[in-house]
Amino acid sequence: MASGQLSREEALACSGCRHACHVMLYADTTSKLFGRTPIRHIVLMQMRFDGLLGFPGGLVNPAEESLEAGLSRELLEELGLEIPISEEDYVETCYAPALSWTSKSKLILHFYVKKMEEEQIREVEKAAASTAVDHGLEVMGMVRVPLFRTNHDGGLSFFLSHSFIGNARSQLINSLLRLHLISPQNLAKALRKSLRMHA
Ligand code: GTP
Ligand code: MN
Ligand code: MN
Ligand code: MN
Ligand code: MN
Ligand code: MN
Repeated sequence: MASGQLSREEALACSGCRHACHVMLYADTTSKLFGRTPIRHIVLMQMRFDGLLGFPGGLVNPAEESLEAGLSRELLEELGLEIPISEEDYVETCYAPALSWTSKSKLILHFYVKKMEEEQIREVEKAAASTAVDHGLEVMGMVRVPLFRTNHDGGLSFFLSHSFIGNARSQLINSLLRLHLISPQNLAKALRKSLRMHA
């Protein structure tokens, strides 16, 4: 388990804490890049207003709404459609990395993953670019994570070398591994390459 991990119950017992919930929406696909490279999975992230990559979701007030209801509300704002989220989609909770210069109280981050059908992912992308009230405001656009590797070592390695909000980068990496969306060997290769690009 990553450091900074705490249980959902411990988290909700913290009176002075703020809470945020984010979700990784994903689907299986049979489509092929350039007609030959199987994509296998679609994983959605977003380009945020601050230029960082992250997952859809946001701040939730447990005094007024359940974590899952709050997350669904944020998804309606940011993606433009209702996506029911249940406790079955919950993965883990951790403290936000110390960025205390922006916040007065401790921020607790709850993370979810939800598997959808490819067609539902397309509906999300359409709504996010049209009816979502936050389109072009909090959210500059949805992006699919390239999970494959190109001939030139691009793909996931280049994607991981971008900048991410909070611990969204490790939430992505951990989820890809846990859900078997990428092999440990291919992930290790992509990580090595992305670190070289940072240096
Ligand atoms: P407002 O409506 O403007 O308040 O934004 P929001 O409610 O949509 O909140 P946001 O999605 O920005 O999330 C709140 C905080 O959670 C952020 O300031 C980050 O510190 C953190 N955060 C945002 N996205 C992610 C993410 O994908 N993963 C993780 N771990 N943390 C995130
Ligand atoms: Mn976010
Ligand atoms: Mn948000
Ligand atoms: Mn929001
Ligand atoms: Mn919000
Ligand atoms: Mn908002």
